[in-house]
Amino acid sequence: MVKPFFITTPIYYVNDVPHIGHTLTTVVADIIARSHKLRGEEVFLLTGTDEHGAKVAEAAKNDGLSPQAYTDKVTKTFSEIWPKLGIQVDYFIRTTNPDHVRIAQAFLQKLYDQGAMYKDWYRGLYCIGCEKFLTQDDLTDGVCPFHPNRKPEKQKEENYFFKLKSFIPTLIDALTDEHHPHHYDILPLSKKNEVLSKLKLGVSDLSISRQKVEWGIPLPWDSGQTCYVWVEALMNYYSAPQIIGKELWPADVHLVGKEILWFHSVIWPALLIAADLPVPKTIFAHSFYMIDGQKMSKSLGNVIAPQKLIEKFGADGTRYLLAQSFPYENDSNVGWGAFTKTYNADLANGWGNVVQRVSKLAHDADIAGKKTSEVITLYQEYYNAMDTFRFHDILSHVWVNIAEVDRLIDQNKPWELAKVDPKKARVVLEDLIMRVLRINTHLKPFMPETSKEIERRLTSSPVEVGPPLFPRVTEQP
Ligand code: MSP
Repeated sequence: MVKPFFITTPIYYVNDVPHIGHTLTTVVADIIARSHKLRGEEVFLLTGTDEHGAKVAEAAKNDGLSPQAYTDKVTKTFSEIWPKLGIQVDYFIRTTNPDHVRIAQAFLQKLYDQGAMYKDWYRGLYCIGCEKFLTQDDLTDGVCPFHPNRKPEKQKEENYFFKLKSFIPTLIDALTDEHHPHHYDILPLSKKNEVLSKLKLGVSDLSISRQKVEWGIPLPWDSGQTCYVWVEALMNYYSAPQIIGKELWPADVHLVGKEILWFHSVIWPALLIAADLPVPKTIFAHSFYMIDGQKMSKSLGNVIAPQKLIEKFGADGTRYLLAQSFPYENDSNVGWGAFTKTYNADLANGWGNVVQRVSKLAHDADIAGKKTSEVITLYQEYYNAMDTFRFHDILSHVWVNIAEVDRLIDQNKPWELAKVDPKKARVVLEDLIMRVLRINTHLKPFMPETSKEIERRLTSSPVEVGPPLFPRVTEQP
């Protein structure tokens, strides 16, 4: 039996509600998942929430709730928003799920039994914002670059350590040798090279437990310690398939933001190898959204919420805008002004207008719609671009074809042609319908609902003209 294509997003911390960064990763995972469905493959998309640790416990306290009541409340803001964006989530995991706790504990016990852990003193700095131990190299001007307003905490406690250092040669070989039994890959290549150089510089062992964090999973062999939140969070990818009893592991793609690539591409594969488990095939790390040239933050008041995007641009409009501005290799600058411009230019005046022009001409000439079975075959190049997250290449190809349809309409003027050569006018219009349907197929993973509607209109007999697909929007949110 062929295993479904298994794609994951990070599980998001519940110390905050969803914003455009989380939305980007989850929408992109769904676009990739749908591109596999288009190939007739079975797909499984996993997302969820990361609910333990000091940061979440602190947020719960500030909210006057118990950690469990607080996580129950915030996790809903994630699980309820994804369907509103047309994201087809196959399973939503919560790390407070008792089954996850049980499976993570068994995983930890196995590592302990294999001799992959030892007890020692941890002395150093910890950033609660990142839930991460910091080295001097991680600091910028003495603070964490991701949380400059939070002084890293000095910590000294007795912890269990995972022998991460001893796995480094194996990880380097696994990343560089395609035939290695634990081979896996990191995309894009620039990010892979960064990880490799850092690995070659040397790595310390990892403290995997906490003495003073109560809101966590107790270590099965020492109930005085809880598991370091990142370690059990990574285990969600492995526990989720077991919770629902599906043969899915290893994941085909872990899609993550660049700030958490190290956890996914070094710590996670090392934990898996130590437990004699297969490693994920690919880890793709995208870069970040900057909002109008600035980092997104609550204090700057520039956080963009998915609900607001949906209100303004619709679910498919939002999906398109996120894919169009995808921070593939470098950070990408977005904002309400830029989104509005792109939406109006690409969707309202561009694609929406072309579909409207062709359907109106075809409808007025009483042309019967095409059968969809004549339409759907996409080139391998398209799927190659999808598999390497090159949305930009796909969308620029789509744009050349949209412009071509516009040009053909202007050049052939089918409404005038109909007066002198009605047969030829029909041929021209039928060709235009096919072209629009072809473009539409390319756009299916990006804008599934609109694509369905376009297909319905252009396959009706006669072709149907409906209300505008992408009504123009004004500048202000
Ligand atoms: N809980 C951890 C992940 C554990 S996975 C086993 C975590 N959660 S998070 O809520 O902070 O989400 C981080 C993810 O959100 C990033 O990896 C990225 O996917 C997304 N983004 C958060 N801010 C972002 C931007 N400004 N731009 C783009 N995406 C970013 O880390």
